[in-house]
Amino acid sequence: MATQYSTEKQRELYDLSKKILAHKDIPAKPEAAKEVAQLHEVIVYHEWRYYVLNEPVMSDFEYDHLYKRLEALEQAYPTLVSEDSPTQRVSSDLSSDFESVAHLIPMLSLDNSYNAEDLGDFDKQIQKLTNTEPPIAYCVEPKYDGGSIALVYENDRLVRAATRGNGTTGEEMTKNAKAMKTIPLKAAFSKYGIHKVELRGEVLIRLDRFKKVNQAREKAGKSILANPRNAATGALRVKNPQEVVDRSLEAFIYQLGYAVDKEGENVLDQFPTHDEGIEALANLGFKVPTVERKVCSNIEEAAAFCDHWQQKRDDYAYEIDGMVVKVNNIDLQELCGYTSHHPRWAIAYKFKAKQATTKLLNVEYQVGKLGQVTPVAKLEPVSLAGVTVSSVSLHNEDFIKQRNLHLGDTVLVERAGDVIPYIVKAMEELRDGNEQPIVYPTQCPSCETTLVRIEGEAVWKCENVNCAAQVLRRLEHHVSKNAMDIDGFGEKYVVRFNEMGWLDRVPDVYKLDYDAIANLEGFGKRSAEKLKKAIDTAKGNPISRLLYSFSIPLVGRTVSKIFAGEVNDIRDLKNWDLEQLMALKDIGPKAAEHVVAFFANPETLPLLNELDALGVNMKQLESERKQEPILDGALSGKTILFTGSFQTMKRNDAKALAVAAGAKALSAVSSNLNILVVGEKAGSKLTKAQALGTVEILTEEEFLKVLEKE
Ligand code: IVH
Repeated sequence: MATQYSTEKQRELYDLSKKILAHKDIPAKPEAAKEVAQLHEVIVYHEWRYYVLNEPVMSDFEYDHLYKRLEALEQAYPTLVSEDSPTQRVSSDLSSDFESVAHLIPMLSLDNSYNAEDLGDFDKQIQKLTNTEPPIAYCVEPKYDGGSIALVYENDRLVRAATRGNGTTGEEMTKNAKAMKTIPLKAAFSKYGIHKVELRGEVLIRLDRFKKVNQAREKAGKSILANPRNAATGALRVKNPQEVVDRSLEAFIYQLGYAVDKEGENVLDQFPTHDEGIEALANLGFKVPTVERKVCSNIEEAAAFCDHWQQKRDDYAYEIDGMVVKVNNIDLQELCGYTSHHPRWAIAYKFKAKQATTKLLNVEYQVGKLGQVTPVAKLEPVSLAGVTVSSVSLHNEDFIKQRNLHLGDTVLVERAGDVIPYIVKAMEELRDGNEQPIVYPTQCPSCETTLVRIEGEAVWKCENVNCAAQVLRRLEHHVSKNAMDIDGFGEKYVVRFNEMGWLDRVPDVYKLDYDAIANLEGFGKRSAEKLKKAIDTAKGNPISRLLYSFSIPLVGRTVSKIFAGEVNDIRDLKNWDLEQLMALKDIGPKAAEHVVAFFANPETLPLLNELDALGVNMKQLESERKQEPILDGALSGKTILFTGSFQTMKRNDAKALAVAAGAKALSAVSSNLNILVVGEKAGSKLTKAQALGTVEILTEEEFLKVLEKE
């Protein structure tokens, strides 16, 4: 891909960044002014590498350092703060946005198609309209499912951003747009002789980010965002650009709509094809579809590319509801023209629906391990893009109220990306009067204790710690994969052994009678032996797993590891007071309070002693001892993962080398991963990392080279 940065320029900016990283003191104003200008340039460059290309050349830590340096200089010399400084993306002035503005040219919609045959018809229509013999070339790109925006640049500066609105006028949201680091505040349009330009694009939230935002909202008792599209369009309408930042909104540009020179003459004809126009935008620093965009030499190839992405849709980091097929040649586009609704030169190829309607049959209430009661809707089974859905979470009482759901309602269900299915709304127009209100229980469905709703929180809770349902959920949690990881010991076993009277408390897990289990219907000797082996293995687990397995509120896996890193014996935590716990990095007061309460409970120490006597490990393992961070290693600040088999070393040795160079080793591919080192026969981890697009992929040899750079 062409870029505005030559290799030499990139090296120069990289070296300059490294140089500035060593700066400490605040210089006199003339030097400061010079450095501020340099910082603008390097920060814009790193933001482009990170947000637009997904290929950062510096660690987050180093980027933050540069950003903080700019803030410090600007604070020392406020007159050096300019409107297009990278620090000015999020302004605190919330007043003037959201006025109605007219688009420079109307933002039209798209005609739809659903299969290769429809595309064939479209192609014939284009041949007719343009009087051209086939083959006709098409540029195909994703149909992003977010909120559309129009950006206006004048004199190389972003001067206005607006939502689509009704297509003719939209709402101004320049401040929100400025908060998106994928939208350049300055772009060198003048090098194309362009004085004023309007671009069209789509604002999106990454699917993994969407999940995290909703998890955080649920925890904070806020309403759940219905889907990624609403998460994006909703934030655009919030009069606080910080919301745009918190949701990590991004903008993909897919259309160069209008461009004139200083005299007001149209200068779009310098880009003879749609693809070249988009490439020019990439060159100017905008985020555009890359591997997801293809110039196809005929409609069959275009149809095949659409189909290819239909298959890959779930691996893509953003929600897309189809592809858009555009006549690539701009002269031909002109010949096609427009209807009042859509351009005749483009068509959306819609993917199979991920929405469907079905009946809401019943609501069941599940009690969680900490007593939280979650309503779950039972649905008439319905197929959503190949997956049958018969039950979906309703999260909490507010979710039901906001959507005014009734038993017997016809509801619209949606499944976006790999996000779990959810109810979008009730189809109120289809009601026949037989629908019944959903009556939220006032008592625990398991133990009948009166439920309480803590102020400011969305969930109702059963506060009886001995509630049978809670006890079962906690036992299930204890044996689960992320806790003691007892292979094969799932929910079914917990419930069955509990019914048999063999499993009421955690220590019972380690006292099971395997002969009796072997005689259970559906078991047998082999499965009983397998279970014994799994339980014996689990006894040697790190104490962080044991701590996590006790379902202490707010003590998740990460927090458990932090505590486990501090003590020789898990029981030593009894001697830590609130202040000591809170002094640990990344430990909040609430988590600390819960740990203190857990160890102060008179039942805890006897429980741990009992587990100790049963052979469960209580001692910190070598591998969980707290490590002082290495700040100046070749991999400091990076996360790393190894996959496949290596030639010159064992995978664990490679991992140890990486950790010694300051890296943090991860165990799975996630959006937090920076580097994946691949050996031979790398499998799904590699595919996943490639799909994420943000992971640097190194061979064994390349990895060793990086280490040499110490
Ligand atoms: S082209 C004049 N390209 O889909 C050209 N639109 O149903 C019309 N959309 O509101 C738009 N991805 O927000 C185009 N690659 C893409 C798109 C795209 C998403 C949205 C756009 C528009 C809607 C039309």
